[in-house]
Amino acid sequence: MTHTKRRGGLIKSATGIPGFDEITGGGLPENRTTLVMGGPGSGKSVFALQSLVEEVRRGEAGVLVSFQESPRQIVENAATFGWDLAELEKDKLVILDARIRPNTFNSIELYLSGMLAGIRVVANEMRAKRIVFDSFDAFLALLGDRTTERHEIARLRDWLLESGLTSVITSQSEVEDMFLTPRQTSMQFMADCVVRLDYRITNHTSSRSLRVLKYRGSGFIENEFPVVIGDKGMELTSTGIVESVRRVHKERVNGGIQKEIEGAQGKFKAQIESLSRKLEIKQAELDFLKTKTSSQARPARQGKQTSTKSTVRNRSGRTVRKSLETTSAALSPQKP
Ligand SMILES: Nc1ncnc2c1ncn2[C@@H]1O[C@H](COP(=O)(O)OP(=O)(O)OP(=O)(O)O)[C@@H](O)[C@H]1O
Ligand SMILES: [Mg+2]
Repeated sequence: MTHTKRRGGLIKSATGIPGFDEITGGGLPENRTTLVMGGPGSGKSVFALQSLVEEVRRGEAGVLVSFQESPRQIVENAATFGWDLAELEKDKLVILDARIRPNTFNSIELYLSGMLAGIRVVANEMRAKRIVFDSFDAFLALLGDRTTERHEIARLRDWLLESGLTSVITSQSEVEDMFLTPRQTSMQFMADCVVRLDYRITNHTSSRSLRVLKYRGSGFIENEFPVVIGDKGMELTSTGIVESVRRVHKERVNGGIQKEIEGAQGKFKAQIESLSRKLEIKQAELDFLKTKTSSQARPARQGKQTSTKSTVRNRSGRTVRKSLETTSAALSPQKP
């Protein structure tokens, strides 16, 4: 599975991160922005790089903008997973060094706009489909005040919307934070998909996990999944995923069947109630007619026995039939 088209036109592209594409039903949203957030060492750069390498291997061109590590470090890190970036760089991948240097500080507010203009030229030339901004927060941290931060986040958002590129932005956040900082809130609003990575040490044992926090225009499995970073990159451990996907599927199916049963039960109940009401009315009428019949029959018994009996029987029969006909006509649907 590489590209999945969904109803409504949302296209997803596979990340090559085993398990992630299953829980998101296809991978990352194309032509949209994904924010990968997490604490130091949680695997943000690995996630971003792995999904970029997957895309480039499929033949699409991509750009990696690094605010933290040098291109050389990135190539070396990637080599430990068996990803030959030098080879990919020949025609499909460009790594841009966006680390802020001391002499940039006088013009920090112009830095991003200038850089984005340059990236646009490079991306157009390469016909790039994908872009990664690794550790965008390293840039934001130098801006000093929240208002400028918000403006720069908005600048990047507008640029990405205009470019139509599929983007991954990584940003640091604390592991245990219960409340989002204003920066994190702005970043999350800007993103269509938000992925949270955690790295914890509990009782001297380390554990990694991943959770999708939001995915505009798509469902996803909301659970937290254990993550392993091994010598082939990142993966979500499969047993957890298979169980979760099955459980969620089962819950949805069972929930649907339960609703159908409840709906049918409701309909039957209403029908039974309506029939019982009709039956009660008929019964009441029958009782009434019986009383009427016996009261009409009484004086006749005092006259000539044989003929009167027959007359009475005939009369009562006609009367009963007429009454029942009248009643059933009243109960049956009226023609306009
Ligand atoms: N080849 C490898 N094999 C196994 N694990 C690796 C390998 N390379 C990196 N890792 C693990 O991945 C972790 C780093 O992941 P990554 O650089 O993606 O984190 P990060 O969230 O980007 O951190 P930071 O916020 O510091 O940039 C390392 O701490 C290491 O545990
Ligand atoms: Mg990193």
